Order: sequence, then C-alpha cells, then structure tokens
Amino acid sequence: MGFSSYEYSVLVLVLAMMVATASASNFYQDFDITWGDHRAKMFNGGQLLSLSLDKVSGSGFQSKREYLFGRIDMQLKLVAGNSAGTVTAYYLSSQGPTHDEIDFEFLGNLSGDPYILHTNMFTQGKGNREQQFYLWFDPTRNFHTYSVIWNPQQIIFLVDNTPIRLFRNAESMGVPFPKNQPMRIYSSLWNADDWATRGGLVKTDWSKAPFTAYYRNFRAYTSTSSNSFSNSAWQFQELDANSRRRLRWVQKNFMIYNYCTDYKRFPQGLPPECKNSKV
Ligand SMILES: *[C@@H]1O[C@H](CO)[C@@H](O)[C@H](O)[C@H]1NC(C)=O
Repeated sequence: MGFSSYEYSVLVLVLAMMVATASASNFYQDFDITWGDHRAKMFNGGQLLSLSLDKVSGSGFQSKREYLFGRIDMQLKLVAGNSAGTVTAYYLSSQGPTHDEIDFEFLGNLSGDPYILHTNMFTQGKGNREQQFYLWFDPTRNFHTYSVIWNPQQIIFLVDNTPIRLFRNAESMGVPFPKNQPMRIYSSLWNADDWATRGGLVKTDWSKAPFTAYYRNFRAYTSTSSNSFSNSAWQFQELDANSRRRLRWVQKNFMIYNYCTDYKRFPQGLPPECKNSKV
C-alpha cells in the first residue's frame, strides 16, 4: 500500500515542521521570567519574548542554564519611539562578590535621537571598563543580533556579526580573565531616568508607557551543545584581518566613550589591559 500524493505531501509537511521546531530557539525551554509579572511574556510557541516597563515596574528574565565559554547570540528589537530614560540590559554574569560579567546596555532616547550602546566587563568583581557606541542603524525598527564570543583567549562583543569590542586575556599583565565561573544570561527593562539620558536631564515620558522590547532567535554554541560540531569556530576564534578592519571602523566612527583613553579618570595610569587593546 503506497501513499497518495496528498498523504505524501502531508507527511513531508509534518516532517518539515518537526525539523523546524527542533532547531528553532524556544524561550520556554531555555529561560525563566524572573520579575515583572505579566510585563514579561513568552509567546508564538516560545519563539518570541517581550519585556515591558510601566510606571509601576520593569521586568526581566534569566537563562535556566549556566555557560562557561561559547558563542551566545540573541536578536533584540528595542523600545521604539520616545524611549528616553529606559534601559534595556542584556548581559552574562556569574554570582557573588568576585563575579565576572559581560554587559550590553541599551540607553533609550527621544524619538529620532540615537540609542547609546553601553558595554562593560567585570572580572573578579571589578568593572570600570566602559565603552559606549552609537549604532549604525535604528535598533528599534528591526531585530538585530547581539553576540558574545567567549573563549580562553578573548571575549568579543559583536553586533550583526561585526565586532565592536575586544577584551583580550591579559592575565600575563595581572588582569584576571573570566575562565572558571559559569555565567547565566540575564535581561531586564527598567527605568533609569536618573542617569541614562544625557546624565538624567531627560525624564521618562510615562504617557508613552508601557515600553516594550522584543527578543527572538536565541542561540548558544558551547562545547556541550549538540550543534557544537558544525559551529565550533568560536573556540579558536580570533579576529581575522577583515574583522579587525571592521572593529577599527566601529571604533573610529561609532565609539563615543572608551575608558582606555580616559586619562583624566585614571591619573595614576590607564588599566594594564589597555596596553594590549590595539587592534
Ligand atoms: C540622545 O541623543 C542626543 C542628541 O543626539 C545624544 O547627545 C545622546 O548621546 C543620545 N543618547 C542618550 C542616551 O542620551
């Protein structure tokens, strides 16, 4: 007994759907909502997540798993319109007073004015390594991919696969490097109008609330994930000539603050890792 062509096409469709769900990211499976009640939502069968902020509260989520090295990708679409005073934080962090942390923070702005992407790196509980950037696109119109490549040699921050920041392992200069504390992924949307927009001068316009940011297509490539075989590039990843060129392009045209050039802030001398931060 054979299949009719109708039965055959139904079978093909069902198989195709099974493959698609197996490979699509699922927020229900990988993340927990940690605060903000109904303000944080997973929907479309776990393929989309949204965080929102109103006058009463923001919201947040965290990964179920911890990660130690890997490549972590997430697509975000940030709060549109007048988002001044709102901050969307997306970061990896371990726990405790000597924690390590890799930070992306998106500082909202008035309609038509650019977001600031604020980044920082904590090692053994010590941060103070801020770098800030404008983006070369409007991060509220579409989803864009924000990634971290973390291996024992370096940490690379990427936006749509363009490296924007490189933190090299500088243990030989006495700078601790994140390498034994596993990190979870966290994100939250909150109100920071006491400092975020022009140092707190522009206040959140609550008549525009709720403010909402969206997440999709989470991917984690680690040495234990099943897809690591085809995506193990992160383990050895160093910047090739083309990536270095793109990193220089970002740093030249879009970087608005770099702790490594802030001589006023470090009158005793710049932090040691700044010496090998040349690309
Ligand atoms: C908001 O826009 C102003 C004017 O372009 C800019 O100076 C500022 O850096 C932007 N970002 C924030 C978070 O204030």
